Amino acid sequence: MYRANLWRLLLLMFPLFIIVTACHDGSENSSEYRSSNTLGSPEDKALKVSPSDEKIKIGFSMDTFLEERWLKDRDLFKDAVEKLGAEVEIMAANGDDALQISQAEAMIASGIDLLMVVPHNAEAAATIVNKAHKAGIKVISYDRLIKNADVDLYISFDNVQVGELQAVAVSNIVPKGKYVYIGGAVTDHNAHMFKKGVFNVLQPFIDKGDITVVYDQWSQDWTPASAYENMKAALMANHNQIDAVIAANDATAGGAIKALEEQGLAGNIPVAGQDGDLAAIQRIVKGSQMMTAYKPIDYLTMEAAMIAVKMAKGEKVETNRNMNNGKIEVPSVLLAPVPVNRTNIDETIISDGFHSFEDVYGKR
Ligand code: BGC
Repeated sequence: MYRANLWRLLLLMFPLFIIVTACHDGSENSSEYRSSNTLGSPEDKALKVSPSDEKIKIGFSMDTFLEERWLKDRDLFKDAVEKLGAEVEIMAANGDDALQISQAEAMIASGIDLLMVVPHNAEAAATIVNKAHKAGIKVISYDRLIKNADVDLYISFDNVQVGELQAVAVSNIVPKGKYVYIGGAVTDHNAHMFKKGVFNVLQPFIDKGDITVVYDQWSQDWTPASAYENMKAALMANHNQIDAVIAANDATAGGAIKALEEQGLAGNIPVAGQDGDLAAIQRIVKGSQMMTAYKPIDYLTMEAAMIAVKMAKGEKVETNRNMNNGKIEVPSVLLAPVPVNRTNIDETIISDGFHSFEDVYGKR
């Protein structure tokens, strides 16, 4: 049933992107997400591309499997590509730029028809685009934007909106006080987008003098350990007088919450993250994390698979945005994130099958 629903949802993504990404005030909520997805469309149109004589082969160069989401991206993308009658080779670079480039080169040399890349480093990955283009292979930047290169297409969630959803949720609870921003990896374009979204919302409060951001640092390579050190430093510098924390993802939120726990503050200070990681959802149930911006990876992988296969065949693909990557306006497809807190876990995360009821709450 879950799969069937997903196919239907996928068909609705385009109107949904336009509705949700057009309204950039961060006010979207999960009920709008649901109602936009219940209009219904013929399921049999989903995951279809025109037949081709030769089997299309996609190369998928990934950065890391450190965060739980990337395993979903890997498995769901493979599934979707195979359902379309194509195949995919997947390599992950463990956060190593040189390795990511050499893995991409190996895939290009092996005769793939299209390359999809999650760059570890937004700038370093430009080399990959140039090499692929020299071999006549198009490149899709997946989830994270590759900068300063002629990327053929970018597909992701609206990452500015992710930050906006976080800041709206937290500032609703804490409209005045001292905020800590725990950023992501400075080398990841998304980390900058998330932060932009957060400050879009916080700036008017800052201007009024109601909110002060007392600490704002990137976390090296997105690691919880780096976020933990950041949060410890923030607490120390402010004598534990912190009112709210926004972290760039759930892994860094976990690091921050560990530092709060050590000071007996976890649960007293709202913390926002993003990704919908199982550990984060469990923390939301327990009360030590307030919210996460959930990104339904199924939609992303299905859309990416259809686009990748179409593009590999030289067919035209639809986009809904342009993202400037420092060199060009990259035709982009941006999906909508969904704010999840204690009140809507069941109707989003669980109902979508993103995590099971048992995993979230324990045995029934
Ligand atoms: C992704 C997040 C992820 C983070 C760390 C970002 O680019 O959008 O979902 O948590 O990278 O891997």
